Amino acid sequence: MGGKQSFPVVKLPKERIVVITGANTGIGYEAAKWVAMMGATVIMACRSKERAEKAMQKIREEFQVEKEKRTPVICDTESLSLEFMELDLSSFKSVRGFIEAYKSSGRALHVLVCNAGVALVPFTRTEDGFEVMLQVNYLSHFIITAHLLPIMRKSGEDCRIVLVSSDAHRSCNFDLTKINYSGDPEKFGRWDYYGRSKLYQIMQMHCMHRRLKEFNISVNSLHPGLVDTEISRSFQDYRLMTRLNGIAKSFGLMKTPIDGALPIINAVVNPDLKGVGGVYFKNLEGGYSTTEARDKTKQEALWKKTLELLKNEILEDQIQGREGKM
Ligand SMILES: NC(=O)c1ccc[n+]([C@@H]2O[C@H](COP(=O)([O-])OP(=O)(O)OC[C@H]3O[C@@H](n4cnc5c(N)ncnc54)[C@H](OP(=O)(O)O)[C@@H]3O)[C@@H](O)[C@H]2O)c1
Repeated sequence: MGGKQSFPVVKLPKERIVVITGANTGIGYEAAKWVAMMGATVIMACRSKERAEKAMQKIREEFQVEKEKRTPVICDTESLSLEFMELDLSSFKSVRGFIEAYKSSGRALHVLVCNAGVALVPFTRTEDGFEVMLQVNYLSHFIITAHLLPIMRKSGEDCRIVLVSSDAHRSCNFDLTKINYSGDPEKFGRWDYYGRSKLYQIMQMHCMHRRLKEFNISVNSLHPGLVDTEISRSFQDYRLMTRLNGIAKSFGLMKTPIDGALPIINAVVNPDLKGVGGVYFKNLEGGYSTTEARDKTKQEALWKKTLELLKNEILEDQIQGREGKM
């Protein structure tokens, strides 16, 4: 990890199961690698088996290097427990398949990291009729968290949900009447709708934190910083953004993927965060999201709207807690 080791490196048991979406590249890859090297079982939920297998191979090679360096804790891990599960967040059919496969495996779930994402994509509608950033970044992850909550509730103490958001939530409009863009594709605000999808993740975190307080599950969200990853694939046609990206890179303003992954790894493994929820992390510290993101009335309006949009995917009674509806 480039000599810097600023997240806690803890020995994790193989029985601790961590699911990370979009773990084949970028910050998800680094998080999967370090959490697996600490000993946990990591399930890489990715849309391409081929890319996930290549990533697993690379992780195994990098693990050998750490072993040879005798990196503390990591060198005690005998072998990696890494698995692939197929998940395409732009398709509810695939999301359902993933949930069913997970449920029928009968295994526990201790940590769910909703990391996969796309940014600044030109207007695209999915096969389910939703704008793609809304579906991939927010709605599909919402469905997965909701359906896997009952498994987490039964998985013992200290279960965690980590929602990878972004400071891009600072520059967007909160307008639930236009949550699913249906206007002129040429007038589609990519920044606005990317920011919205990330704002919703922070609001979801607050709603879930309120509902899960009495349970064994904590929910946090985070901003990884401006990170040099493959995220720019989504906006290759957006000249201004690709130029700004290039400038940021050449002035050394972008983090490396491992530095971007620090808040994720910390949220997954830090023993001091047991039971800590409702925090928007920046680096390793709690940071501030916007006043809007922290507005309880708006958060609850989003929750209601989300359940309306997803009425064919989740019924409120499917995400019941011990004493009633979430
Ligand atoms: N990079 C930044 O500066 C930055 C800043 C703030 C927040 N973030 C957030 O950080 C997260 C990770 O981004 P990154 O920078 O690591 O980007 P990345 O390198 O492009 O990785 C994104 C991951 O998401 C996966 N993904 C995309 N669409 C998917 C779909 N439909 N179904 C399943 N997986 C899908 C990708 O899989 P494929 O390889 O198969 O496409 C990839 O594994 C995102 O949520 C992003 O919004 C990034």
